[in-house]
Amino acid sequence: MREQEPSRTAFAAATHRAVHQVMEQGKIFSDPLALTIAGMKAEDVQHEDESQPSRRGIRLFIAARSSYAEAALQRTVEQRGIRQIVILGAGLDTFAYRSRLPGNARIFEVDHPATQAWKRRRLKQSGIESPDSLIYAPVDFESNTLLDGLNAVGFDSTQRTFFIWLGVVPYLTEKAIDLTLGAIASLAGGAEVVFDYSDPPSSFPLELLALHEARAARVAAAGEPFLSYFDPPALHEKLRKLGFSEIDDVIAHHLLSRYLGQPTTVTRSTAESGEPRSGGGHVLFAATKFA
Ligand SMILES: C[S@@+](CC[C@H](N)C(=O)[O-])C[C@H]1O[C@@H](n2cnc3c(N)ncnc32)[C@H](O)[C@@H]1O
Repeated sequence: MREQEPSRTAFAAATHRAVHQVMEQGKIFSDPLALTIAGMKAEDVQHEDESQPSRRGIRLFIAARSSYAEAALQRTVEQRGIRQIVILGAGLDTFAYRSRLPGNARIFEVDHPATQAWKRRRLKQSGIESPDSLIYAPVDFESNTLLDGLNAVGFDSTQRTFFIWLGVVPYLTEKAIDLTLGAIASLAGGAEVVFDYSDPPSSFPLELLALHEARAARVAAAGEPFLSYFDPPALHEKLRKLGFSEIDDVIAHHLLSRYLGQPTTVTRSTAESGEPRSGGGHVLFAATKFA
């Protein structure tokens, strides 16, 4: 990321969620604040989508990863009584501003300082109120430790905690990712995390590779190049070694088929050729042992 500038990819992800509310009527992920936080009106969306029809695949994936994460969080709130939630690299995520969690729940939003300050200005400008249960923690994953940032604002490491970390891992160095996952796994109260990641481009089918390269060039030009990819078995092994015992790793097009009930345009050719190859995005849930 550029040190003094808010994340441009955070704005792009928010725009995709806003467009999804209009183009697919929020079918995968319904977010009543998505248009407001992105500073958009439904009328703008038609134009936005017509000018960039090739963005449909990434839009649906961004909607699906949020839907998966919030469903996993809801389950764990109900079944395991989790009351401490951390949104890592929150960008313009709106969960904290629309969630209906039990009154004693606390949400921490962690983000790069420049992005977090920009978000807080946007919230004010758009009239979205921050609930009392929300606590902000500015952290640069590349130069600060997550737990230092959280502990400074009253995080309780003895409470089991749910982390949502969407659209961030690909932009970090492997060292920062390892440190952050290690910090999550080390929490005395136990932890659960949902994050997304990508297979190495060398494993992509050709049609996906072209889309990926175009996207990689766009984010690099915005000062936020992709820095990390993971081979799924190696990543699972890393997670187990850190202490995560439950792992659910879903390939993007399986996730989309789950929500849409059909293979999507972007991945149809792999789906048609039999069991789809892994290639592209994954959304992963991992949890340490629940006592
Ligand atoms: C693509 S955006 C995703 C935002 C949000 N999670 C979403 O899904 O809309 C990437 C986010 O990662 C954050 N980020 C990137 N590098 C970071 C770093 N070194 N430390 C902290 N946050 C970082 C950016 O500030 C931004 O909020």
